[in-house]
Amino acid sequence: MDKPIGIFDSGIGGISILNELTNELTKENFVYLSDNLNCPYGNKSVQEIINLSLKNCHKLVELNCKMIIVACNTSTTNSISILRNNIDIPIIGVEPGIKPAINYTKTNNIGVLATEKTLGSKLFFNTSKNNNITNIKIHEQVGYMLVEKIEKGLINNKSVEGYLKKYLSKMLKNNIDCLVLGCTHYNFLINQIKKIIPENIKLIDTITPIITHVKKTISKYKIASDSNYNGIIKVFYNGKTLNKEFLKKRYLIEYLDF
Ligand code: DGL
Repeated sequence: MDKPIGIFDSGIGGISILNELTNELTKENFVYLSDNLNCPYGNKSVQEIINLSLKNCHKLVELNCKMIIVACNTSTTNSISILRNNIDIPIIGVEPGIKPAINYTKTNNIGVLATEKTLGSKLFFNTSKNNNITNIKIHEQVGYMLVEKIEKGLINNKSVEGYLKKYLSKMLKNNIDCLVLGCTHYNFLINQIKKIIPENIKLIDTITPIITHVKKTISKYKIASDSNYNGIIKVFYNGKTLNKEFLKKRYLIEYLDF
């Protein structure tokens, strides 16, 4: 069997990326790790995030993966260079789409909704600083409790609407014209967010850029699957249960101790 592409997140957030990848790369096998035993990552210490990310990568290597996608902004922004230094296969990460937002904004006000540790990371700071944005204001907001609610399958709960209204109203007052979704879990809240923000505010997620990046990496390392059959997609979780709401029917879901 062709070696799979490994992908991990603290929970189901990265499924938003896996769903798109499996539409585009139909012949590839995938192994997804949902580390929901340790979810959320966003309020853990940097060292804990590094340790958890390394643990997930080692498991994906053990599962014979040919490359790894870190489908978690918190892991990427706090650990990607350490992961690359320790793991011998190509590693791709996701980080908040600050550059596209800078290119887009006309009001010079950008909103970023992400986890505490993504917004506090050096990588996020450097991306914002290195883009020559002296006249552009980045309005950061931590999405407290959103990841937990999504993991529990409570996206349509009144409390989620309440949190979103609170977080987004601050940014709207600051005249943002684009909103960066800096956490893969928040991709599942797009409909709820659209009900709150005016239509002219652009939502910037990281799904499309990462798909392009994955395709380029596969071609650069010449590791594309040469199978004629549709790929096998396995989803492993290590918590008590897994919220399967966003998973495709054909995914093979299994508990794994990792
Ligand atoms: N999906 C992760 C991210 O993109 C969630 C972080 C968390 O577990 O707090 O940041």
